[in-house]
Amino acid sequence: NKKIQIAIDGPASSGKSTVAKLIAKKFAYIYCDTGAMYRAVTLNAINNQIDLDNEQSIVDLLQHTVIDFKTIPGGQQVFLNGKNVTETIRNEEITNSVSAVAAIKDVRSNLVKKQQKIANNGGIVMDGRDIGTTVLPNAQVKIYLVASVLERAKRRLKDNQNMGINISLDQLEKEISNRDYKDSHRKISPLRMAKDAIKIDTSSMSVEQVVNKISTIIDQKL
Ligand code: C5P
Repeated sequence: NKKIQIAIDGPASSGKSTVAKLIAKKFAYIYCDTGAMYRAVTLNAINNQIDLDNEQSIVDLLQHTVIDFKTIPGGQQVFLNGKNVTETIRNEEITNSVSAVAAIKDVRSNLVKKQQKIANNGGIVMDGRDIGTTVLPNAQVKIYLVASVLERAKRRLKDNQNMGINISLDQLEKEISNRDYKDSHRKISPLRMAKDAIKIDTSSMSVEQVVNKISTIIDQKL
């Protein structure tokens, strides 16, 4: 079997990582969560008391930012400079600050290079915002997942409840719309569907249905 590249993009909370992880498992591919990398860089800046407007200091800090992924039976773990930050990078402060950091040109070029290296040998499922357009323009399979803002807010509400976080549906809808706006209006690699991507609206689909649909698309390329 060929070891291909699979790019999964889409707006915030569209179910990319849930689906991408399952696809990677099914095909025994590597999974790379590029959003986690932008989140880890943001956390590192905050930990170092760097003002998020201070682009140069954030870029300088990249030289002291080591991000590793480790896949364990419970899921993928993210390490920042050797420390497990899997849960911390999902908190509200990071979620609402990451778009500003991800808009910085040199942050993007640094992380895109790392992502391309990880994906170089194929056998990869990578999720993010610009994978099909910028990181892996030659990916054999490109998927663009969308869902209504309300549906995505409901999913985050559920995730939050599982983590013991209490934020209203209304507030989550606002945060999601806000992040989508920032991610799709930045100068460098804004969130866009690649011309050759296949769009899937997951609003009224189960995770299993989405995984099956993408698996069929992948099978045709193998
Ligand atoms: O996917 P996730 O919600 O974890 O991504 C967090 C943030 O990282 C996004 O809102 C976006 O600002 C940034 N990001 C990006 N390019 C990617 C992946 C994520 O700009 N490929």
